[in-house]
Amino acid sequence: MKCTELSNNIMKELKKEKILKKICIVQVGDREDSNRYIKNKIRKCNELGIEVELKKFKEDEIDNLKLREIIGMANLMRLPLFVQLPLPEHLDETLVHNIDYSMDIDGFGYETLGRIVAGHSNKYPCTPKGILTILESITDLEGKDVLIINRSFHIGKTLALMLTDKDCTVTVAHSKTKNLQDKIDNADIIITAIGKANYFNADNFKKGQIVIDVSINFDDDGKICGDISKNEYEKLNKKGVLFTEVPNGVGLMTTTSLMEQIKNL
Ligand code: GUN
Repeated sequence: MKCTELSNNIMKELKKEKILKKICIVQVGDREDSNRYIKNKIRKCNELGIEVELKKFKEDEIDNLKLREIIGMANLMRLPLFVQLPLPEHLDETLVHNIDYSMDIDGFGYETLGRIVAGHSNKYPCTPKGILTILESITDLEGKDVLIINRSFHIGKTLALMLTDKDCTVTVAHSKTKNLQDKIDNADIIITAIGKANYFNADNFKKGQIVIDVSINFDDDGKICGDISKNEYEKLNKKGVLFTEVPNGVGLMTTTSLMEQIKNL
């Protein structure tokens, strides 16, 4: 399943009103996946009339002190800002949580995350927000058994809370989880963000299951792919498994969710 139509419909609604806002994106390094995300985010911002300042640093151009300063300045100047993750190892990723709630378009701030735990946030990290939009467009979530294979704060952990609030029964799996296939077999919905090209094939899933492939990987030929092998798409379709493709799947919805959050600032 591609998410192009779902994303286009949301963008069409958002385009009805010009969004006269400026945002700032901070990128450190030159990762291919980050370049791709950022390019798509800027393109969508341009479509909506949102001004974007991209602060792109080489890895050795920035340290924790400078990153802290940039985030502090954005809070002070009331400039909505997000820092593209992952950051290079020498930088402290927890700094991204210091963005004020009112400037938090990416849903990474401490207040946003605390509000999600408390069950009353109107902001969310954009990937879980996009996944929720996809799931709600294809199924009734009440009572569903969901397996999330990822425990990062901006995918698995927050999504687990959001889906729990939608009356799902959620299992969070990770690299130390035992008997993963048993857990897959028992789930109605599987959300995978393992980050390994061709990790799954059609034999891992059964008819009626919904599989959301969150990962953006690059295969041996440098082509973009998810955790599910592209060669298996046809078999999965034949089997009756509903799954999101990569590209044009969750990544599209992550950027679309960011646009919704900028509009709602
Ligand atoms: N890296 C992967 N997804 C995201 C996202 O939604 N926001 C940011 N800032 N970095 C990411």
